[in-house]
Amino acid sequence: MDLKLKDAVVLVTGGSRGIGLAIAKGFANEGARVAICGRDPVRLAAAAAEIGGGAVGFQADLFKADDCRAVVEKTVAHFGRLDVLVNNASTNVDGTPASLEDATDAQVMERFMGKTMGAIRCTRTALPYLKKAGAGRVVNIGGSSARAVSRFRPGTGSGLPQGLGNAALANFTRHLAEEVAHDGIVVNIIHPSLTRTDRHIGRMERRAASAGITVEQAEAEVGKTFPIGRVPGPEDIVPLVLLLSSALAGAITGQAMAVDGGMGLAVQY
Ligand SMILES: NC(=O)c1ccc[n+]([C@@H]2O[C@H](COP(=O)([O-])OP(=O)(O)OC[C@H]3O[C@@H](n4cnc5c(N)ncnc54)[C@H](OP(=O)(O)O)[C@@H]3O)[C@@H](O)[C@H]2O)c1
Repeated sequence: MDLKLKDAVVLVTGGSRGIGLAIAKGFANEGARVAICGRDPVRLAAAAAEIGGGAVGFQADLFKADDCRAVVEKTVAHFGRLDVLVNNASTNVDGTPASLEDATDAQVMERFMGKTMGAIRCTRTALPYLKKAGAGRVVNIGGSSARAVSRFRPGTGSGLPQGLGNAALANFTRHLAEEVAHDGIVVNIIHPSLTRTDRHIGRMERRAASAGITVEQAEAEVGKTFPIGRVPGPEDIVPLVLLLSSALAGAITGQAMAVDGGMGLAVQY
């Protein structure tokens, strides 16, 4: 299938590691021109080199409104247009707060401010360019915490910040899809579940410590909980992102799809 992404200009926020890096590489393999952003300049430069194909990295802290605006403007200034925005960047709130009883307001809102608000701000700046592109695409990377809570275990922390942020991002996705459909822009959200990124090992260490087992035992236990028999990796998310970003996805909008290895049991209409 020709996804017709050759020469498309794509901004993947937080494309310097994990799922975002895999997505950025996926676009580059399709011949797209890719921009990524992140806070760590060293990691950004290494990622841009790894992505190849003229990929460029812009330093930005998406907690800051000015940086959200700047990263979109810099992408357009560099490549001359913008066809696809992938809102992937997220602050890491794994393990915090320890419980809701002790949660500060800042902890509760951290994922919303460090992910959802960044996505909303980047999208706002991107919209005029996506409209001009004619068939603009927005793909938001949410998380299965939008749909279900994880079993709470002392020591692993509360999932509320993730849940609030991702559920709000899904709501934003549907509102935006409604508003821009007549401009030829389609907007969708993908919900990964636990994914084997760099953060995975820390999670397994916390799980092992809280259950009094080894990290290897924790890994094996977690893998078995997935119906597909393994924890999905970043590469499992890439094909759906590419499809939803392609010219072929013109009638798919406002949808939320999980890449969760069959973990979610609810029937999602
Ligand atoms: N991994 C999972 O298990 C999982 C599960 C469900 C959903 N997700 C979602 O999938 C997406 C990617 O997750 P991941 O695990 O690949 O994340 P990750 O490995 O922690 O990478 C996050 C990326 O975002 C950037 N970033 C973080 N905070 C930022 C900020 N304030 N401003 C700009 N860039 C920022 C990071 O670069 P710097 O640190 O240099 O800024 C990095 O490039 C996130 O939206 C996450 O919520 C992940």
